[in-house]
Amino acid sequence: MKIIEVNDYQEMSKQAADYISNRVRKLPSLTLGLSTGGTPLGLYKNLIEDYKENHTSYQKVKTFNLDEYVGLAQTNPNSYRYYMNDIFFNHINIDKSKTNIPRGDVDDVEREALDYEQLIERSGGVDIQILGIGSNGHIGFNEPGTSFDSKTHIVELATSTREANARFFNNLEEVPTRAITMGIATIMKSKEILLLISGESKKEALANLMFGEIHEGFPASILRNHPAVTVIVDKAAIAESKVH
Ligand code: GLP
Repeated sequence: MKIIEVNDYQEMSKQAADYISNRVRKLPSLTLGLSTGGTPLGLYKNLIEDYKENHTSYQKVKTFNLDEYVGLAQTNPNSYRYYMNDIFFNHINIDKSKTNIPRGDVDDVEREALDYEQLIERSGGVDIQILGIGSNGHIGFNEPGTSFDSKTHIVELATSTREANARFFNNLEEVPTRAITMGIATIMKSKEILLLISGESKKEALANLMFGEIHEGFPASILRNHPAVTVIVDKAAIAESKVH
């Protein structure tokens, strides 16, 4: 893993955006793996600014999002489809038909998971996967205990994850209990991974990622076995962890 240490959230977001926009300019038909949550908000904001200033084109870019809540319509502001359109896709020249997010609002979500995995494979796989990390080490919505061999699947969300995400909803009861997510093996197949870690609440997760054992109890630990992971981490997440 290549670790890039930055001062704060702003710097992390800017560096991540430079990394991605440079790659899109080099390979305009890049396939990007995208994530949601609080962490990548600044990255998307910087990418939109770059698009406006430097006209980086997303016309040929294809995207696959990591995950989606089960049971939320795409028009629900808490669905990840809504988030992606609102926060990023509506502000750049991407062809929405090339943007893929698992559907959590279909009758047969198990079927959807199988289809999504195949779709990624048939399209030639993800070139760069952007990742955040949950404080319990989850990546995508793969909670502790998820098999490292897992493909896109349906998961029950941990209470800690629902509590962490309740800030986006009116209350905890509204947070869905299930999600559809790329599996750990799906994520590991991407050619390159860009992991963003910011803030004090991720201190323990960072320390576990760097120094803990590689095991299914801490899903992100598997990333240490991936040949091309870059981690951009800010000082708040490093402070008092044993990174130094
Ligand atoms: C969420 C998402 C993940 C995200 C993580 C951290 O539940 N499913 O993709 O990386 O948890 O979220 P945040 O960036 O808001 O801390």
